[in-house]
Amino acid sequence: MEKKFCRESFVVKTSIVLPPDTNSYGTLFGGKLMAYIDDVAAISAMRHARSTVVTASTDSVDFLHPIFQGHSVCLESFVTYTGRSSMEVFVKVIAENLITGDRNVCALSFLTMVAIDEKGKPTVIPEVVPQTEEEKNLYDTAKERAELRKKRRKESEMWAQKYGTDLPW
Ligand SMILES: CC(C)(COP(=O)(O)OP(=O)(O)OC[C@H]1O[C@@H](n2cnc3c(N)ncnc32)[C@H](O)[C@@H]1OP(=O)(O)O)[C@@H](O)C(=O)NCCC(=O)NCCS
Repeated sequence: MEKKFCRESFVVKTSIVLPPDTNSYGTLFGGKLMAYIDDVAAISAMRHARSTVVTASTDSVDFLHPIFQGHSVCLESFVTYTGRSSMEVFVKVIAENLITGDRNVCALSFLTMVAIDEKGKPTVIPEVVPQTEEEKNLYDTAKERAELRKKRRKESEMWAQKYGTDLPW
């Protein structure tokens, strides 16, 4: 299968923060930002795999700085690492005060997206090839993150089994 460069899955999405998307403090609602993160990661993964994808996991999202109403929020994403059917996608969130030009990185996240076929089964994807310093750094450190996710998945499965569907709801 043909290999693909990280840059081939690069996605940029910029929006202005407007009142319907803010909390009572006038800053971007966290759930909205998480939806944006999932959106751009899915587009990056689909650009890489050229197939349907599902989100298998999202690593922790640390909201490092608030994003204020009237500021812009820009998300960048690309595929950093690939397995057989899974892709790690890196998402960086940058806020900008459009009056002063001040910018800061407000959040970072790694997501794992899995390519699926028409029967919903995981399907093989092209291998990703890093080129820039940043891409190589993310690629080289990805195996370690994948190991942590494997461990976390096992723990989630254990908790799901332990506390199944027997609660009142
Ligand atoms: C993700 C999913 C397709 C995996 O299917 P599966 O039959 O369990 O397949 P596997 O265990 O072989 O996993 C397939 C790949 O996904 C990876 N994967 C599965 N769950 C993962 C998780 N929680 N975190 C990271 N990677 C995961 C596996 O490591 C494997 O990677 P590889 O093919 O590159 O080696 C399946 O669990 C699913 O459909 N989950 C729900 C997804 C969804 O609905 N997302 C939207 C959120 S509401």
